[in-house]
Parts: sequence; structure tokens; C-alpha cells
Amino acid sequence: MTKLYPSLLSADFLNLQQELNALEEAGVDGVHFDVMDGQFVPNISIGLPILDSVRKGTDLPIDVHLMIEEPEKYVELFAEHGADMISVHVEATPHIHRVVEQIKNKNVKAGVVINPGTPVHAICPILNMVDYVLVMTVNPGFGGQTFIDGCVEKLDQLSEIKKVHGLNFDIEVDGGINDTTVESVVSHGATMLVAGSYFFKHEDYKTVTNILKG
Ligand code: DX5
Ligand code: ZN
Repeated sequence: MTKLYPSLLSADFLNLQQELNALEEAGVDGVHFDVMDGQFVPNISIGLPILDSVRKGTDLPIDVHLMIEEPEKYVELFAEHGADMISVHVEATPHIHRVVEQIKNKNVKAGVVINPGTPVHAICPILNMVDYVLVMTVNPGFGGQTFIDGCVEKLDQLSEIKKVHGLNFDIEVDGGINDTTVESVVSHGATMLVAGSYFFKHEDYKTVTNILKG
């Protein structure tokens, strides 16, 4: 079954504990935690102090998506502050292999992310090392953007690579996921969904969880 990680970027930060309780009750698989530095992406979001609070507030797995320059300087810290999974953009570092090793050495699941303009072949050399690949289906930096259809063919390419090489990584999608786009990403091989604005606009998180997980 497809796993669902709502993006806390669209949650109510004034009532974070209630939000986390409601997510647990709804049966989501974890929470997605978007870190933006104002350099790699043109926006600044949340960091370690909020991660500490989320870690205290839930036992759900926390999937940290680092949209930051020089991720090698920070991955250990995010692991020590409670991340269960950490993904880094291949575009953000010349040393993606080393950063993935750093994450794995902290006993945290390691993911690599590709922007809409980055081809799958940019990450081929490290696909046998990662636990998941995050295919951005919008340009990172903001919630509430429109899904980019052209990204779907990357899901086919990654599914084919998994089959041919007997690899087992999850394929995560992030950006513009809603009741209409979910069908195409899942049918093309996505196994993990991130949803922000579409998820949190619902009053009832159980209903939207069921819609997205199918
Ligand atoms: C965008 C972030 C996403 C964002 C998704 O840069 O990485 O995780 O919260 O939001 P929606 O689902 O609204 O596109
Ligand atoms: Zn994200």
C-alpha cells in the first residue's frame, strides 16, 4: 500500500500538538518536514527547534526534506534531533555519495531528491545506496503549486531501474499531490506520497488519508 507523509509546511503551527494527534488518528505513515534555507530555494521555513518539538509530540516517523546548500554540514544534526529519514538534493552538493554515507552512518534512512529539471541519470551511481528517491513534482520552495506532468516519466524510469537491478528503494513524490494527480503517480510507481496544501485544507484527516492512500 502507498505510504502517506503529510507535509507539516501546511499544518497549523499554533496548534502543532493537536495536528500531530489528528495525523496519528488518521493513520498516516509519517510526517514530512520541509527545511528551506533561503539559498538553495527562495524561501525560509523551519529547522532544528521545531524538529525537536515535533519529535517530542509524536512517535510517527519524521521524513526530513533538506532544501539547503551544503547539506553535508547539517545531516548529522538533523539525525541527532530526531529525524528517521533524511533526503538531500543531488543539486545541492558535489558530494552526494559522501552525504548519503553520512546519513546512513547515523542509522537514519537516506534519500536523494531530484528537481523537475534534473534527469534520473544524475543519481544512477547512488541508487544502490539509498532507501528512497524523492522525485519533485514541483520546483521546491513553496507549498500549493501546480503538479508538473512531465515529471511522471521519471517514475517509469526509476521503476524500470528497480526491476532490472533488483533494487528496493521507495519512490517518493512531492508537490501538487491531490485527488486527481495521485492516480497517475501511483500507477507509474510512486510508493510514498507527500501532500501539503491539499491534505491540510480538509477538516477530516481520516477522509483525505483514505482518498490519497486509495
Ligand atoms: C515544496 C515542499 C513540499 C510542499 C508540498 O518545496 O517540498 O513538501 O510542502 O506542498 P503541496 O502538497 O501543497 O504541493
Ligand atoms: Zn518536501
